[in-house]
Formats: sequence, C-alpha cells, structure tokens
Amino acid sequence: MKPFVAKFVWFDGKIVKDEDAKVPVMTHAIHYGTSVFEGLRGYWNSKNLYIFRLDDHIKRFRNSGKVYSISLRFTDKEITNAIMDLCKKNNVKESCYIRPFYFVGRHGINLHVTENTPTHAVVVMFPFGELFNKNGIKTGISSWRRISDMSTPPLAKMGGNYLNSILATQESKRNGYDEAILLDHLGNISEAPGENIFIIRNGKLLTPPPSSSALEGITKDSVIEIAKDLGYQTIEREIPRTEIYFADEVFLTGTAAEITPVISIDGKKIGDGKIGKITGKIRTIYSDITIGKNKKYSKWITAVY
Ligand SMILES: Cc1ncc(COP(=O)(O)O)c(C=O)c1O
Repeated sequence: MKPFVAKFVWFDGKIVKDEDAKVPVMTHAIHYGTSVFEGLRGYWNSKNLYIFRLDDHIKRFRNSGKVYSISLRFTDKEITNAIMDLCKKNNVKESCYIRPFYFVGRHGINLHVTENTPTHAVVVMFPFGELFNKNGIKTGISSWRRISDMSTPPLAKMGGNYLNSILATQESKRNGYDEAILLDHLGNISEAPGENIFIIRNGKLLTPPPSSSALEGITKDSVIEIAKDLGYQTIEREIPRTEIYFADEVFLTGTAAEITPVISIDGKKIGDGKIGKITGKIRTIYSDITIGKNKKYSKWITAVY
C-alpha cells in the first residue's frame, strides 16, 4: 500500500523526513484550530507533473491568515519553491494532492493571537486519485447550517472551520448520501463541506456568492471562465433551497472533488439522474487543462519538471 504521506515533507524552510517533522503537544493549533491550509493538485500526464493554479492557491493561503493575524513567515516565492522542490525530492511521478499549511505554535492558552505570535509552515503531499464517483453522487441538504461571516468567516480557509464540514459529512453518511449540501444562515444554498456548488437552469449556470458563505473556490472560478468561453453565462446569486430541486443539472467543484455531478438531492432525481450535458462539456475541458492538453489555459498550470 502506498504511504499516506510522501516520504519527505517541507517544514519551516527545510525538507525533512515525514517522521522527523514533529510539534509539541502545547501547539496552539491543536487546542484551538488556529491553522490555515490550502489544497492543490498535481496532475501527472505520463511526461510531467502539472500543478493547477499554484499562484492563486498561494494568494488565498496568505489572505486566510490575515483574517486572524496568523503570520505566514515565508514569501510567496518561498512557498512556491517549497512545493516545487518537495515534488522533486519525493520524485512524484503520479497525480498527487499537495497540502501547505501554517499554524500557531507554542502560545500557551493565550487567545490573543497577533502577527508576532509564533507560527510554523509545512507542506505535505500524497498520491491522490478521484475523490468521488465521477458518474455522479447522491446528496442531501444538511440540518447543520454553514458557518457565517458573523462568527467564523468561511472565506478564510482555517482548520477550525472544518468542524462544521465534519458535522455535515457525518450526518450525510448516516443518511446514506455521498455528500452534504449546506444552507447558509438565511436558508439559501451555500456550498458542500469541501466544495462549491453550481446549478444549471435553462442553459445558465447559477452559483451562490461569497455572501452566502461560499468559499472563493479556485475550481469555481475556473469553471466560470470555461463556461463563459463555451458561451454559457454564470450568475452568482442567492439560491433558495427549493430552486435546487428545479435544476436541470447540478455539480460540485473543488480541488479534491474536481467537477463532480450531483444526480440526486434529498432523494429527488436531478435531470435524468445522469451527468448533465453542460456539466460533461465543462468537465472534459477542465480535465484536459489539468494535464496540459488544452493550451488556451496553459496560464493555469505550472510544470514541475
Ligand atoms: C469549504 C470549501 N468550499 C469550496 C472548496 C473548493 O475550493 P477550491 O476549488 O479552491 O479547491 C473547498 C476546497 O478547498 C472547501 O474546503
């Protein structure tokens, strides 16, 4: 069996063996969830490894920490190099998931986190295939509401935020679904525990705005651009729960989930219960881009070797 984490990790500026990257038990992030993370994919096309939208992930990585004054003590260039160097050191020759994160280190039980509070930065990676069944997944609306900008800001990708995602995921699995869909504090569609959501009605794409507690997804942004180039308009607006049942097509987007068709919600079939036509078109283009097959979007990929 493949190791869960590749042999080498990047830890505060150095590449070390995974077993040598250790933190003390009084690490603040373990107690309070004071960590920031990103998830990227590397795509192997049998000749080279391509990292998808590296710069955009690093931008969001730094922005998330700003919200909580948690400092990333490395420049964007240093994080970029850390990711590239680690892929090379691990000699990655298959598609992988890359997880950079930074977190508050020793800070006692003090809740007053400032820019000067000690932090550590890490990059890990591991082989990664498909997250969900590409033929489509069954979903249910969660009884848990998505966190909101009034409490724990969902636009900052913080470790602690994912407690909300864990509750929704546990409930959806208990109910026999593949994935949850969360409503925001007003009862509008927000997003899935780790994915943005799109619905298609009458040839137009609709997706909830950040004000509906939806992360500013990089896959979402990519889909909007691909759809536009195909001649499909995307409207970012509030989507009431009921409207999702009227959709012709529904799909989730995320680095891990890529473009995953939703074939049912709360036991109600979406479209004809198969991947929709527009979803399929967008997904084909997206997957070609990730492996360097579509030159028009080559700005989105960074070759490792
Ligand atoms: C809560 C949440 N929403 C949406 C997404 C999708 O974002 P992206 O496409 O940038 O991976 C993710 C994954 O990062 C997520 O964790």
